[in-house]
Amino acid sequence: MLNQAKWISHPNDVQFDCPLFKKDFSVNKDVKKAIITITSLGCYYATLNGKRIGDFVLAPGCTSKRRVQVQSYDITSMITENNSIEVLLAEGWFKGRINWRNNQELKEITKSLIAEIEIIYKDGKKELIVTDESWKVKKSIISFSDFYDGEIVDATSSDSFVNVSVNDYGKKMLVKQQGPFVKEQETIRPIEIFKTPKGESVIDFGQNLTGYFEINVSAKKGDKVSLSFAEVLDKNGNFYTENYRSAKAQFEYTCTDGEQSYKPKLSFWGYRYIRVNEFPNELTLDSIKAIVIHSDMKRTGYLTSSNPMLNKLFKNIVWGQKGNFLDIPTDCPQRDERMGWTGDAEVFIKTASYNYDVEKFFEKWLTDLSLDQFSNGGIPHVIPQFWSDNSSSAAWSDAATICPWQIYLTYGNRDILKRQYSSMCKYIKYIGKISKSRYLWTGCKHFGDWLGLDAPAGSYKGSSNEDFIASVYYAYSTLLVSKIGKIIGKNTEKYDELYANIVEKTRKTFKKYNTQTECVLALYFDIAEDKASVARQLADMIVANGTRLQTGFVGTPYLLHALSQNGYSELAYDLLLQDAFPSWLYSVKCGATTIWEHWDGRNEDGDFWSKDMNSFNHYAYGSVADWVYGVACGIQTVEDKPGFEEIVIAPVPTDKIDHLSASIETRHGLVSSKWYHENGRIRYEIITPSRTKIIIDGKEYNVEKGTYIF
Ligand code: BGC
Repeated sequence: MLNQAKWISHPNDVQFDCPLFKKDFSVNKDVKKAIITITSLGCYYATLNGKRIGDFVLAPGCTSKRRVQVQSYDITSMITENNSIEVLLAEGWFKGRINWRNNQELKEITKSLIAEIEIIYKDGKKELIVTDESWKVKKSIISFSDFYDGEIVDATSSDSFVNVSVNDYGKKMLVKQQGPFVKEQETIRPIEIFKTPKGESVIDFGQNLTGYFEINVSAKKGDKVSLSFAEVLDKNGNFYTENYRSAKAQFEYTCTDGEQSYKPKLSFWGYRYIRVNEFPNELTLDSIKAIVIHSDMKRTGYLTSSNPMLNKLFKNIVWGQKGNFLDIPTDCPQRDERMGWTGDAEVFIKTASYNYDVEKFFEKWLTDLSLDQFSNGGIPHVIPQFWSDNSSSAAWSDAATICPWQIYLTYGNRDILKRQYSSMCKYIKYIGKISKSRYLWTGCKHFGDWLGLDAPAGSYKGSSNEDFIASVYYAYSTLLVSKIGKIIGKNTEKYDELYANIVEKTRKTFKKYNTQTECVLALYFDIAEDKASVARQLADMIVANGTRLQTGFVGTPYLLHALSQNGYSELAYDLLLQDAFPSWLYSVKCGATTIWEHWDGRNEDGDFWSKDMNSFNHYAYGSVADWVYGVACGIQTVEDKPGFEEIVIAPVPTDKIDHLSASIETRHGLVSSKWYHENGRIRYEIITPSRTKIIIDGKEYNVEKGTYIF
C-alpha cells in the first residue's frame, strides 16, 4: 500500500497551523479509471480541481497510534486535462490538544501527508502520481486549527508555495479503512437570534449538537467574524461556557471583500448556542446554519409512547448517540475531553446497537482496544490511549468483554469474539495478578460508581464499595470469557472454575449491600443469594428516597432491569416516569435536548452542579433505552441464536402509559413490539422476522416469522 509514495510535510510546520499541499498534473489520454489512495498523520481535506474528494469528514479518523487507516476514492469523473490536487492538513486527533499523550515520541513526528493517484488509461497503460519532493506546500488561510480550541482563519492571507520536506516515517502503520466514515449528516437552521440580559447576541439552534457550521457574510476586506459556542444558558439566560473548561472552542474569521461563505472542515464543536462576538453585517437566520457530523450509521431502532416527555427522552438519547459517535465513542463532544472512554461505551453499547447499526463502528474501536491494551493485560481508560496513565478501572476496562459480547448478541457477529478473545483472556489474567486477594478484585483504584448521587461531599464517586464493584465485574467478565470461549470452540474449564470461585468469594466477603448500586449489581449479576430480600431492600431504599434513584454510571444501566427481573416492574416504571429531581425526565423538564452527564447538571434553582465536570451531552444515562426495548417492549436476543436469528418477546406493560412501542431493523428483518390500552384491556401487536417465543402474561407462544396480535 502506497509503496512509492513518500510522507511529506511543511518544512516549517508549526503545531496547530494548517498547511496546504498542492500538485499539478496533466492527463493527455482517455482515462478509464483514476483512484486516489491517501492518508495522513493529522486530519486531511482534499480537493481535485476545486471539488472535494470523497466525503469523509476528519479523515483518516481516530485510531491507536499503532495504525493509520488509508482511504481510497474513485476520482475518475473528476479528472480533466489539467489537474490540480490540493490537500489541507490539521493536527486533528494525531497531535492536537486532544492527544494528552503529547510525549517525546509524538514531538518528533510532524503532521504529514501521503498519497498516490493511480490513473489507468483506456489504452491499458498506467500512471502513478505520488507524494514526493515534487509537491509544493504553503501556509493556508487557516492559521490555527484544533478540536478543543477551534479555528482561526484569515481569508485575506496569502503565502507562497515552497518545496515540501520528505519524512521517513515508514509505512508499517498503514492499514485499510476499517470503520465507517464520519460524514455530514444533516443541516439545522437556527430557530432564534436573541439578546441575552447581558446584551450579547446569541443564536439558538434548538438542539445540542456536534459538528460545525456554515456562515454567509457580506463584508469588506479585513472585517471580522468572531463566534463562541455553548450548550446551555445560565439561570439568568446568559451565555455560559465554563463547562467547556480549557477548550476555547472559538471561531475567528477575517473576511475578504464581498459576499462569501465559509465552513470549517478540520475541527468540530459541541453546541446549541452560538454567541456572535463580531459580524460585519446584520446577522439573520439565513446567515448561518449548523452542520451535524457523526459516523455513518444506519438508524435501526425506534421507541415511541403516548407520553410526550418520554418521547423527548428517547429523542435526546438518539441525539446523545449522534453527538458522540464521531469515529470513536466519545464521552462528550464539547469540553477538553472528547475521548473514547471505555466505561461510557460499555454502559451504552446495548442501546447504541439497537438505535443504530454500529457493528463496523465497534469492530474498529475494539481493534484499537486490543492494540492499545497494556502489555500487562490492563485496559486503558480511553481508547485510543490518549493518556499517559497506565491503570485500569473496573466497569471501564470491562468494555474488553462486554462490547464484543453485545456486538455478537445484536448482530450475530462471531468473528469479533474470535478476534477479541485473546485480549479478554489477557485482561482476566491481569486482574488475577493485580488484585490484593485471590478470587476478588481488591486493593486497586477505580472510578467506582462514578457520579452516583450518594457520593461523599466533594467526591465524584458514589458511596458504593469499589472492591465490591470490581469483584462483581471480575466475575461477569470471567463469565463472558467462559461463554465466548465455548462459542468459538475453546476449552474454558479454567474460566468456569474461576467464575465459580469469584462468585463464592464475593458472596462470602460482601454479605451486606449498603447502596442502591450495590443492590443493583448483586441482583443483576447474580451475586445475591436471597434475591427476594435484596430486591425488597432496593425497592425500600428507592421508595424511602421519594421514588428516586441515587445510582451513578455503574448502577444506573442495570437499575430498572434489577427491579423488573425481581418483581418490581411498576417501581421501574415509576423511576422511568419520575420527573422530579433526580430522574431522566427531570432533564427533559428542564428543556434538555441531549442526555446530561450529571443527574444534577443543573439543580432545581437553575444553578449548575459545577463547572469542571458538567457536560450536557454525555450519553451514558441514555442506556435506559435498552430497558425500554428489552423489557418494557420485551424484545430480547437469544444467546445461542444471536443477531435476532431467534427472538424472545416478553413485553411488560403498565397502566401508567397508554401505549409504548419499539422496533429494531435486525439482520433478519424488522422486529417490533407494541402494546396499548383498549377498552380496559391491553392489546399487543408483534411483528417478528424470525422464530420467536412470545411471552404474554406468563403464557408462552412459539411462533414463526409473522405478525401476531394478542
Ligand atoms: C469522563 C467520563 C468518564 C470519567 C471516568 C470523565 O472525565 O467525561 O465520562 O467515564 O471521566 O471517570
